[in-house]
Amino acid sequence: MEKKVITVTSPLLPSLEEFMPYLQDIWGRKWLTNNGHYHQELEKALCEYLKVPYISLFTNGTLPLMCALQALRITGEVITTPYSFVATTHSLWWNGIKPVFVDIDPETCNLDPDKIEAAITPKTTAIMPVHVYGKPCDTERIQEIADKYGLKVIYDAAHAFGVEVNGKSILEAGDMSTLSFHATKVYNTVEGGALVCHDEQTKKRIDYLKNFGFAGETTVIAPGINGKMDEVRSAYGLLNLKQVDEAIEARRQVAIKYREALRDVKGIRVVEDMPGVRHNYSYFPIFIDAEAYGMTRDELYFKMKENGVLGRRYFYPLISEFSTYRGLESARPENLPVATKIADCVICLPMYYNLTKEDIERVINCIQK
Ligand SMILES: Cc1ncc(COP(=O)(O)O)c(C=O)c1O
Repeated sequence: MEKKVITVTSPLLPSLEEFMPYLQDIWGRKWLTNNGHYHQELEKALCEYLKVPYISLFTNGTLPLMCALQALRITGEVITTPYSFVATTHSLWWNGIKPVFVDIDPETCNLDPDKIEAAITPKTTAIMPVHVYGKPCDTERIQEIADKYGLKVIYDAAHAFGVEVNGKSILEAGDMSTLSFHATKVYNTVEGGALVCHDEQTKKRIDYLKNFGFAGETTVIAPGINGKMDEVRSAYGLLNLKQVDEAIEARRQVAIKYREALRDVKGIRVVEDMPGVRHNYSYFPIFIDAEAYGMTRDELYFKMKENGVLGRRYFYPLISEFSTYRGLESARPENLPVATKIADCVICLPMYYNLTKEDIERVINCIQK
């Protein structure tokens, strides 16, 4: 009998039974989008869950990045990481901003604060770090540098839903943070996202920007875009929020099993929890030292695939290697030795709340053998 394929991710879904009454209510209200009842309810519920005062829902996690840059009127050059999903850098490109790539820290895979200052020029206006795999960036060091040079900080927190440091939301850091609620994320609204800011005035501006710039029936105050989340996905989001803690706990149990089994495998490095951090276990990356392990990352990746275990080379290739960015001075591999190495040795293992014991064992066996 053919073995079942273990996918790299699986969406957290609300029960259809629970979803139907919400749909019936939406059908009854006949108000499908434009800051409807469920949109408002989900913004309120997310503020509470994420412990932040202001949040604006979006239709995906890319538009909040683009709108954050507009809201803060960022221009010129922005320092960012090549070790992320392309949307991070694309948001700069779509705003006519030049990305300046800075290398990453080998432990956290986040922007290395020690390397930021050397990349600052008179044109630099902001820093756009990413909390990669939900691991918190060194927000204190980054803020110190930003304050010293008068720069804004926008965190791409697409992976960092629910992450806390010493009981405080990671989303409090910087000027703004963005979230993605894509189907593959810890918390999803099918497609969706949000922009977190720290004051009412800014929230108002963001809400104008995501609605074509409309500030009234006949007033347009900025070249806004359509970034609104609809009622159906907002209701779905309310239901998923009820079960996200349970899902995070289930993911934590998967991470514990992976770590126990793989920590001592020669040539494999696993990530450990950081003290004082509430992690969300959004991804489980392993890093392969080909010489010590006896197999390259790609050899292992394809071996897993042959055995019906789908990993993901995330992030590979680096953003700086895509044709749009390759020509930039800061994109040269010799400028990014750590990121280049990490991108060549990483595999993210299957990670979701309903991975079975047998699935986990199959993944582990594939790597231990
Ligand atoms: C780090 C990062 N930033 C931005 C995004 C874009 O989010 P979305 O797919 O919701 O537009 C993603 C999505 O995978 C991501 O991983």
